[in-house]
Parts: sequence; C-alpha cells; structure tokens
Amino acid sequence: MRRVLVTGGAGFIGANFVRYWSERHPDDHVVVLDALTYAGNRENLAGLESHDAFRFVHGDIGDQPLVESLIKEDGLDTIVHFAAESHVDRSIHEPDAFIQTNVSGTHTLLKVAREAWLDSDSAPGDHLFHHVSTDEVYGTLGRDDPAFTEKTAYAPNSPYAASKAASDHLVRAYHHTYGLNVTTSNCSNNYGPYQFPEKLIPLMIVNALNGKVLPVYGDGSNIRDWLYVEDHCRGIELVIDKGKKGETYNIGGDNEYANIDIVSTICSALDKLFVTQPELAKVFPDAPAVKGDRTDTLITFVKDRLGHDWRYAIDATRSSDTLGYSPQEDFNSGLTRTIDWMIEHETWWRAVMDGSYRDWLETNYD
Ligand code: NAD
Ligand code: TYD
Repeated sequence: MRRVLVTGGAGFIGANFVRYWSERHPDDHVVVLDALTYAGNRENLAGLESHDAFRFVHGDIGDQPLVESLIKEDGLDTIVHFAAESHVDRSIHEPDAFIQTNVSGTHTLLKVAREAWLDSDSAPGDHLFHHVSTDEVYGTLGRDDPAFTEKTAYAPNSPYAASKAASDHLVRAYHHTYGLNVTTSNCSNNYGPYQFPEKLIPLMIVNALNGKVLPVYGDGSNIRDWLYVEDHCRGIELVIDKGKKGETYNIGGDNEYANIDIVSTICSALDKLFVTQPELAKVFPDAPAVKGDRTDTLITFVKDRLGHDWRYAIDATRSSDTLGYSPQEDFNSGLTRTIDWMIEHETWWRAVMDGSYRDWLETNYD
C-alpha cells in the first residue's frame, strides 16, 4: 500500500491518473496538491472527494513549508509529479511561469522529498519520486529520422520543452547525487476527457461545435504521436510498479498523424454525428452541419507557431520490453470516446473556458 502525493491532480492527465489509480489501488491514500491555475479544476475530481482515502489540497508545489507538512503529516512515501505549465503557445508568449513551476517548483519538491525520505529519522521504509515528462525534451524530427529513444540527446526547442528538460535533469541529479529513488516517463501527445480546450484536439472539437474557425498552424503538416490518456496512466503505473530506480521510460502511442489529418478526421466525425443525432442541432445551433455545411469549411490556416517542432515520434521499446507496456486504445476508438465525452460534457468545457483563457484565445484568433 502506498501513500501518494499527486501534484497537478486537478489538471488533465493528473485527474485521469487519480481516477485510474484510485480505482485500481483503492487502499492507497491519495493526496492531490494543485494550485488550480486556469488549467486545474476541482470538477475534474468530482466523485472522488467523498472517499476517505482521498484528500485535495489547494496549494503551490513551490510552497516549501506546505509540501513539507503534507509529506510529514500524511506520511507520504510516493510522489507522482504532474504539476506544470503545459501549453507550448503560452510558453512562447509568457515563459516566466514555466520556469517558476516546471523548474523551481520541481526543485522544491525534490528538495523536500530528499529531506523527508533520506535525511529524516521518520523516513518511510521505501519511497519513490515519479516525474511525468514529455517527448518534447528531445526536440524535433525530420520525416525519415528514427523515433526518440531514451538515449536520444536532449534538444528542447520551446520554453515549455526547455523547462521540462531542466526538470528532468534535476530529477536525474537528485538520484545520482543524493540517491533519491526516482523514475521519469517521457510521453507523447495525450488526448481524452478533461483536456483543457487550448490543446489541438479539444480546441478543434469545441470550435467546430460552436461554428468558430479551426486554426491550423502553418501548412498543417506537423506530426505528433497521439496517445489516449488512459494508456499514459497505465504506462505510469507500470513504471511506478516495475521501473528501475534512476531510469527513464518513453511512453507513446505508435500513432503518428499530421495535424491537418487530425482536424479533418474530427470534422468528418462531427458531420456524421449531426446526421445520426439530429437532436444535437438544438444544443449546438452554430455548428456548420446545422446549416447543411461541412465542418471542414471552418478550417483556417493561420500564422505558424514560432519555432514550431515539425515531428515527434516515440520508440517505446524499453517500456514494452521491460515493463510490458503497450497502448490499448486505437486512435479511432479513442477519438470517438473523446468527441462523445466532449458532447456529453458541454457544461464542463463551457465552464473551464469561461475565464482568462477565453479572452486570450479570442484576442489571438477571432
Ligand atoms: P494541465 O495543464 O492540464 O494540468 C496541469 C495541472 O498542474 C493543473 O491542474 C494546474 O492547476 C496544476 N499546476 C500548475 N502549476 C502548479 C503549481 N505551481 N503548483 C501546483 N499545481 C500546479 O497539464 P497536463 O496536460 O495534464 O500535463 C500534466 C503533466 O504531463 C505535465 O507535467 C506535462 O508536462 C506532462 N505531459 C503532458 C502531455 C500532454 O499531451 N498533455 C504529454 C506528455 C507529458
Ligand atoms: P498542442 O495540442 O498545443 O500540443 P504540442 O504543441 O505540445 O504538441 O498542439 C499539437 C499540434 O497542433 C502542434 O503541432 C501545434 C498544432 N496546433 C494547431 O495547428 N492549431 C492550434 O490551435 C493548436 C492549439 C495546435
């Protein structure tokens, strides 16, 4: 049985992970620490807060006394660290918060973990700091380049990727220098329920339902490897349970698509849904299908992202060979589940977007 601190547990992947973990490890004590930035929402954890073994704490990972008291008072022996500023476009416009949370915040967690788990008389018998990171630390690939392995040299290109790379290095250093038990996972692009509609897939679904432009950066040829969020959670669980201390593991979907193909697939899926579910017209009166138009008429090629990485691809051989990892959701079923979820959770996305992000989005794209 573990006593787990999940940082960033009210965000997209963190909330999915807490749900996944609580279901599969009902005896574990789980504390979520989340600053509830624009990307974090208590709603994402609805239903869990009544469990005795679950506690939500509203706070910042950079608040050292708070993190110290949590680890001590709750006797925590495991940290699964998701908390981060996570959106590349925001990191280009306002990088400071990325350095603060992703670099300094991660360092605060490591420092406190080291004191509590290595330097204290009341240290738990065993401990683990699992760091959740991204494939973006490896930089960008050309069409024929081999996929990223754990041995690929770091070459982060955006302030977001650079801040995650810095945090990965700090985690590694705390293992090498102090002997802290750490593992790191570097994952490809996730999609699924509770993803904030600033990332490609949920943004395109929401805009299409609202009849707003679908802004595709550059010529739309950029390629990402897409993974359904539950498969990421499964991968993290395997690393926590079976991973070698000090090791890093790539987690991916083996599922590369160009952005324009993703957006076009979403458009045709919505066109079909409005035919099979005519009642959707009442809920989303501005959707093109309601006026007899195709959704892809909304696709608009816009100015490219600065420094836009062209391709990411993950070689997950180490995770599959040593941990038994393999993604279980295929892209078509995962995307269908995601679109259905977004349609059923219209209230959720309208509420989470009803903040400062909405203003930012509108000044950038309207
Ligand atoms: P997200 O932006 O949806 O959620 C981040 C969460 O962290 C939010 O709940 C936010 O409130 C919280 N947070 C931010 N700053 C904080 C602070 N200072 N203290 C405490 N909490 C804070 O992000 P996500 O997409 O769920 O990503 C989670 C992690 O997974 C990140 O570390 C990210 O780098 C990594 N990752 C994401 C993807 C992806 O496709 N989304 C892929 C690979 C890795
Ligand atoms: P995003 O979801 O922001 O993830 P990341 O930048 O971390 O990969 O973007 C995925 C891809 O989609 C990326 O190549 C940028 C592109 N994109 C658009 O073309 N339009 C958009 O409005 C957004 C948000 C992303």
